[in-house]
Order: sequence, then structure tokens, then C-alpha cells
Amino acid sequence: MAQRKVLTVVGARPQFVKAAVLSRLFEGASDMGQVLVHTGQHYDRNMSGLFFDELGMPDPDYNLGISGGSHAQMTARMMEALEPVMVSERPDMVLVYGDTNSTLAAALTAVKLYLPVCHVEGGFRTRSRTNPEEINRICTDHVASLVFAPTTECMGNLEGEGLGGVSSFTGDIMFDAFLSAAAVVRGREHFLTGLDGGRIDVPGEFVYLTCHREENDRDGTIAEVVRAAQEMPLPVVYPVHPRMQGRVRAAAKAQGTDNLLLVEPVGYLESVALLERASFVVTDSGGLQREAFFAGKKCVTLLPFASANETLSGNRNTLVTPVTADAVLAATQVEQTIDASFMPFGDGRAAEKMLDAIRTYFMIAGQK
Ligand code: UD1
Repeated sequence: MAQRKVLTVVGARPQFVKAAVLSRLFEGASDMGQVLVHTGQHYDRNMSGLFFDELGMPDPDYNLGISGGSHAQMTARMMEALEPVMVSERPDMVLVYGDTNSTLAAALTAVKLYLPVCHVEGGFRTRSRTNPEEINRICTDHVASLVFAPTTECMGNLEGEGLGGVSSFTGDIMFDAFLSAAAVVRGREHFLTGLDGGRIDVPGEFVYLTCHREENDRDGTIAEVVRAAQEMPLPVVYPVHPRMQGRVRAAAKAQGTDNLLLVEPVGYLESVALLERASFVVTDSGGLQREAFFAGKKCVTLLPFASANETLSGNRNTLVTPVTADAVLAATQVEQTIDASFMPFGDGRAAEKMLDAIRTYFMIAGQK
């Protein structure tokens, strides 16, 4: 059988983590070859290159160097740059992950070239049309020929939108990634780099905070988040996304930071190591909400919606508006109950199921 060519498009941190898992399987599959395209959406060393190195990802075959600007500008520039790559590579399938602008740009470009799109992590719905990622994931699901649902709720959402025929429940590839990373980081020493460049030792007990979403990128909101961090019962470790660094520094300067350790963004392994050692998590990251669930850590989410509603069971994830009192109250007062038998994110072998489904897709397509 002729080898099939899959063109994978990545661009932002969480996509590198997910693509690393499937890339390893592609490398071992003689019937499939992968062309890896990095849009350039994330470009700082600790937002991109570090992830490729620590996860053993192959270097991208193409880096389009596109980042920043408005959503429309970024997406349009990516589409313009992706089209000639897809035309010259003539892949059998374009594979995209998650819900970033890179995901949408690649899916739209591919479908306009009549190339089948495969969407890993389809079916999440926040029901918020002002959440930029919601638009990206709805559009991507609806142009895809193959959609992989990380939970049965996602599968139900896809069925409800008439996409059951192209979708299948595989489990969450983030869970696959988490299981391998947790085994690797156990017992390893990790040091953090402060925003001022100095070395920071991880405290014995701490809260792991991340906050980078566009919804929270406002002076007033950041001031509340910093105030909440100051009032937490334990020191707070906060790796700050580049988009937030100016505002966070200003808020920290105005309010003092004796309970808050501001550090540079961390790679995936460092993030899992922090999660494993943290007492609990405060975040607006969709991925970290799920990872907290995988690690059995309580999570307080600074958004009105969850990445996956399953994380809310037993108060394992509490949604709050990013207001100081609400966040502190949720972190200190809400009791969580963990039912270890409840694992809605699959069995940690989502990537194998995805590869099987891609093979089946090619087999059926070859018969038509
Ligand atoms: C993007 C995704 C978001 C995802 C997040 C993961 C979209 C709409 N959003 O958000 O879903 O959760 O990635 O981290 O696609 N910047 C740097 N260096 C970098 C990357 C970004 O300085 O390496 C700065 C730039 O000023 C850029 C800004 O951060 O304009 C925002 O980056 P962008 O990629 O647009 O969005 P994220 O907030 O990273």
C-alpha cells in the first residue's frame, strides 16, 4: 500500500504537546508519513522551541513565522502562507489540534483545497460566542472529515450538531501526554526563572497559578488576580505568558508581591512537575483544568465556563469570576470529592485509537 502523507499544522503551546504524542506514532508507522508545519503563532524559546526539544518532536518542515496582530489578520496571514505549502505538498490529509487561530487557519485553507481535515479535540463547547476559541472549534469541527472527541460529552455535542457520522470518541490525547510526562518528571529537580531573570526555588507548598486568556487580559482583572494571589493561604507560583507580563508587573508593583512568585513561562515538563507538587491550581487555561483533574488536584477556574464540564464533578473544578474574594473563597472553602473510578478522558491511549481511525478513513477513501 502506498504511504499516506499527513500534513500536521501546529502553532501554539498546547498543540506541540498533543502533536508530540501522535508524531511518535507516525514515526513508527511505515504506512504513514508526516509533514510538520509550524505557523509561528508562538515563537519565544520557552513558548515553542523548548517544547519541541523536551518532547523529542521533530523540527518543523516549515515554519511560517506568523504571529500577533488581530484575530483576522493572524488567521488571514496564516491562510495565505499555508495554501502554497499544502498545494506543493499535496497531503492526503491535514491534521489540526484544538482551537487556536492556527487550527482554524489550517482547517479553512485545507477544506478550500478539497483536502480532508482531521480535527483532534473536537466537540468542546463553552456556549460563549465571545470566547475566541469557541468560534475556532465550531468552524473546525464543521469542515472536518474526521473528528476525534476527547470525552463522551464532546461526542454528544458533535452528534447534536449533525457531526456524529464523521466523529468518534477516542479519549483525550492530553491524558496520554500527561501520563508519560508525570512518569518522567517524578523525582526530578526543577528550577524556575523569575521575571527579573533570577533563579527561583519552588516552595515546599504552593498554589500553581496561570492566567493568560484574552477574556482576562485587562488591567482591572489582572489587578484582582494579583490581589487574590496575595491573599492565598500559600505562596503562589505564577508563570506569566508574554501577553500579560506588562500588566502583571504593573499590578504587582502597585500591590506588592511578597506571596507571589512571578516566573517566566515554563515548558510542558516543568508545568506537569509544578502541578504534581502544587497544593491546588488557579487557572484560566483549558488544558491545565484538565491536567489538574488528571493529577487529582483541586482547580479554581477564572472563567465563567469550564474547558470540559466533566472536571466540575465533585467540585474538583470551581468556576469563579476573577474577583479577589470569589477566587480566594473558592480556593479555601470549597471541598472537593474525588471519585477515582470517574475518568471521562479515556484510557490514556487516545493516540493509538486516532491512528487506527485515520487508517480506516484512508482505507474507506481508497475504496471509493
Ligand atoms: C493562544 C490561543 C489560546 C491558547 C494559547 C495557549 C488563539 C486565539 N488563542 O493564546 O487558545 O490557550 O495560545 O498558550 O489562538 N506572544 C509572545 N511570545 C510568544 C507568543 C505570544 O510575546 O511566543 C505575545 C504576542 O504579543 C502575541 C500575544 O502574546 O500577540 C498573544 O499571543 P496569541 O498567540 O495571539 O494568543 P495566546 O494568548 O497565546
